[in-house]
Amino acid sequence: MSETAALRRNMSLTEEILKAFSLCLRNRSLYPEGHTILRVSDERLVEIYNDYFQSQESWTIVILGGEIVFEKVPLNRVSLLVRPLLKAAEERGISSLSVRKGVTADEIAAFLHILTEDDPWEGGNHNQEMLNRDIHHILLQRVDIAESNYDISTDTEDARDIYASMRHALTRFFVSLFNPRSSPSLDLVHQIANRMIRSLQDDHFALISRLHTRRAPDDLVGHSINTAIIAYEAGKTMGLTPTQLTDLFLAGLLHDVGKMDIPPRFEDGIIHTSTDPRILHEHPLRGVGILQSLPTVPAAAIVVVYEHHRGWDGSGYPTPSRASGERRVNLLANIIAIANAYERYLHGTENAKPEEIPPMLIRKAGEEFEPRVLAHFITAVGMYPPGTFVKLTTNETAMVVDPNRSDPFRPVVQLLRDADGEPVDEDTQINLADRDIDTGHYIASVRTSVPSA
Ligand SMILES: [Fe+2]
Ligand SMILES: [Fe+2]
Repeated sequence: MSETAALRRNMSLTEEILKAFSLCLRNRSLYPEGHTILRVSDERLVEIYNDYFQSQESWTIVILGGEIVFEKVPLNRVSLLVRPLLKAAEERGISSLSVRKGVTADEIAAFLHILTEDDPWEGGNHNQEMLNRDIHHILLQRVDIAESNYDISTDTEDARDIYASMRHALTRFFVSLFNPRSSPSLDLVHQIANRMIRSLQDDHFALISRLHTRRAPDDLVGHSINTAIIAYEAGKTMGLTPTQLTDLFLAGLLHDVGKMDIPPRFEDGIIHTSTDPRILHEHPLRGVGILQSLPTVPAAAIVVVYEHHRGWDGSGYPTPSRASGERRVNLLANIIAIANAYERYLHGTENAKPEEIPPMLIRKAGEEFEPRVLAHFITAVGMYPPGTFVKLTTNETAMVVDPNRSDPFRPVVQLLRDADGEPVDEDTQINLADRDIDTGHYIASVRTSVPSA
């Protein structure tokens, strides 16, 4: 069978599977547990799966922005038909569902039970809960539906979770913008943004350190989250009000919303930045068009989306009309412009080390960037922003926890490994600005930043 014929066959079987799944779910609301009809519809579903598994080992769908995606193709037609299944999965935070060869009717029944319970995970681990119920051939990925009163923690695991939750939420939001049947909502993005802001406000460097995790060069959502975090870190030290800081963070998340293809190119779990030069050039204006109709986007964030590629000296785009007279770029747009450039230098084609970036930005002072804003930015972020892994002159490895405002080369660091590469147990911090009392020399200095510990 040719590749196209095989894909067509898998698509049509997937539509059958989804319809049968929906029927099983609907039967749960019509018949009591144990009724023969339930068993018959579950077995019918397993039959279709077995048909599919004749040529495949597993079946996976992604659930995004009110749409089911199979093999990177949104199933527009079937998504409408299987709305109850989609809704049940979304309400339980399920963002992808994989079923492996060997699945049984009992496992299907147990999983359908989960889809009818209010809180099947009770805050615990969903995959563990699946195993507890003897479901071995169905695997889920979940978006953490954030609670607004979430406890803040400095734990690295939590930072990873919250970052991943934002990634899911923003991806879903971006995809939903182009789905005619969904009504895009920023609620989940707002909730997770509030959690991230609380963590950043309290200097929890575990979240900031996520910045240093490598991302694909055209990963739009990763770039947006990182830009928001960097901008927030800088804005925090510039005397901005809490409202301005929240607007700045959201503006960072949304600044490149106009940079997607229509529909968005969603492959390998990420939304890819468009490569169409016209889209790239028009993305600020397109972004404004997309966001203007949404009630929960702050006006300040829309201004940032529009102006984040306008230079301080009048360069950049979109070009203002002559009638607008002396041009002044909004302060928040200026901060996002710098954070955007910083993030691209770190993860884009330059792939620069953190300490290489401030000189690259300074070259554009007075041109692209307003010099005083840039000076504040560099003081706040430092040569080695929090979360950067560094090798010291003592050969020890450490992580930057606090930049030094008066000497950006001498941050406070937490030791991770000794000179022999052995992990350091205690919570040992060194202020690199401290000197040895006897010799008057610095205790240690940064030799270079390193990709990871
Ligand atoms: Fe942009
Ligand atoms: Fe950007």
